[in-house]
Amino acid sequence: MNNGELLKGWFDAYVREYPVFDPAGREAYELKIGHSLRVAENSVMIGESLDFNGGDLALAEAIGLLHDIGRFEQFRRYRTFRDGKSENHALLGAAVLKENNVLTTLGEDEQRLILSSVSCHNMLVVPTDLPRGEDLFCRLIRDADKIDIMGVVSAYYESGQKSDFIELDLPDDSACSTGIVDDLFMGKTVDMKKMQTLNDFKLLQLGWVHDLNFPLAARMIDERGYLETIRRSLPASEKIDELLVFLKRHLASLGSGAC
Ligand SMILES: [Fe+2]
Repeated sequence: MNNGELLKGWFDAYVREYPVFDPAGREAYELKIGHSLRVAENSVMIGESLDFNGGDLALAEAIGLLHDIGRFEQFRRYRTFRDGKSENHALLGAAVLKENNVLTTLGEDEQRLILSSVSCHNMLVVPTDLPRGEDLFCRLIRDADKIDIMGVVSAYYESGQKSDFIELDLPDDSACSTGIVDDLFMGKTVDMKKMQTLNDFKLLQLGWVHDLNFPLAARMIDERGYLETIRRSLPASEKIDELLVFLKRHLASLGSGAC
């Protein structure tokens, strides 16, 4: 793919010119702009760890940059990043790319891979019927995305700041919903629809280690201590301490390529 610079130019113009001018809105936008750029970098790093050729690396980078393009329109329409209270931002993103003819200079295969990866980046699980190429890029963007979100929320929890955009307007009432910790012990990921509180969201973030695909992603999350930081923001609980040990073991195993 030779259109990387064109896509970056389009992305930059699209997000910078978006009609949200109040400070809170701009802050929300900047959050997503920074996230998109870092996810593009993570995507390239994972691609390199898999010995991708130049064309595939450029494709991975483009998917990373564009995966959350629906967030800007979502926020403009609904003033939230919570899909359950607005609409699915991944499908909205694919629609934005089509409506703006962003991908028309690319070949058909590349267009399909980008639209498919953007559409499935936030699904609870990767669809089982994806063709091989789509499956690979879809898994890659999901890992690249999780690395950055875990970094953003870790820094946020440590800072003690409050942002409704990051907390998705969830109540911070110190409760954890029954069943979520048990699900994580069973190797399941948490469905966003089950989240009732901010602590549930934190547990959901810990549970992403059950949905990683590539050793580099596991190592990046492990080395940066994201699990420990997120855990520190949760209430004191022996069960959660045990969960952390369990998840750390799984992460180390993924990072070594053992599973
Ligand atoms: Fe997203």
